[in-house]
Amino acid sequence: MKKTYLVGPRTFVLDQARAEAEVSAKRVVGGKETMHFNLLPLKYTWAYDLYRTMKANHWEPEDVPMQRDIEQWRATDVLSDVDRWIVRMGVGYFSAAEGIVGDNILHVIRELVTASELKLVLGRHAHEENIHADSLLYMISSLGIDPYECEAMFDDVPTIAAKNAFVTGISRELRRDMDVTEPEAWRLLATNMFVFGQCMEGTQFYGLFGMILSLYRQGKLPGIGTMFRYTLRDESNHIELLRRLLLEMAAETPALWTPAFRTQLRELMAEAVDLEKRFIDDCLPVEATGLSAGEFRGYIDYIADRRLESIGIEPLGANLANPLPWLAELMDIRKEQNFFEGRVTEYQRASSLAAVADDEL
Ligand SMILES: [Fe+2]
Ligand SMILES: [Fe+2]
Repeated sequence: MKKTYLVGPRTFVLDQARAEAEVSAKRVVGGKETMHFNLLPLKYTWAYDLYRTMKANHWEPEDVPMQRDIEQWRATDVLSDVDRWIVRMGVGYFSAAEGIVGDNILHVIRELVTASELKLVLGRHAHEENIHADSLLYMISSLGIDPYECEAMFDDVPTIAAKNAFVTGISRELRRDMDVTEPEAWRLLATNMFVFGQCMEGTQFYGLFGMILSLYRQGKLPGIGTMFRYTLRDESNHIELLRRLLLEMAAETPALWTPAFRTQLRELMAEAVDLEKRFIDDCLPVEATGLSAGEFRGYIDYIADRRLESIGIEPLGANLANPLPWLAELMDIRKEQNFFEGRVTEYQRASSLAAVADDEL
């Protein structure tokens, strides 16, 4: 079907059938390569909706007051040695991890997907990793932590180095011109989406999230806790984005989404869980008030299984209980009316809150 517009002396003919063929040819990978960034008509409407939710959640680190954190950090009778070590491990690990995720999103996944609405939401994802990295810089500089110490942690704490090596290896495998419609390249990309979304952001971030928010529950370091709560809300959208992308790819190429491949992904999750448990033991070498390494290890088992189930893979354990039910409460930011201690900044529009809350574990 063609539409004709007569405008003064000019005639324009628009070919609707050709436009419809273009949309039906949109794919996660292997769709038409084009220099156009034309979002409409949308095929993956969930990706555009998620982009809008993420945008409505926008926050800036410097809007979070750090005065009480600075006072507590300087005082000698508020924070224990374990509390301080958790903060150092938190800023040390995440300073590397946020950048690794953003880099992989921008230079691997966003490069290889072909539909514009997917590129749009992945661009927002990468930007949020910049915000998270910037929030860590703000925390480090506010507390006066030596930035060289932070840099040294990437190499000198073996459990941090091991977690980082686990993900960077998978990212590196895709950094060359690849035809992702080839089965081996397809599997590498699907593995990348699984490892970054479900294993790293979805599981390996949660040991420290739990510990830092445990301190926050005790009234310690409220500014840092606030920023981690915002980060956690963003991460839940990143996990969902990479989960949906993976499932779309699987639906578009069912012959490659085999039981054997799903078993490989399950084994990667088992490796991620093992790395995270060893890392938790480094974060929490002794028990402290409200902080039990055993509970955090149990939480990792619990959440890893939820991630596996969310993409239709058999869990590693069976019917594990959630040892940290309060963590879901802290992720629901609506409950805090006075979150910014009297500031009028409104970071969350009501329309996008429901989707986030439903998604939290
Ligand atoms: Fe992040
Ligand atoms: Fe993220």
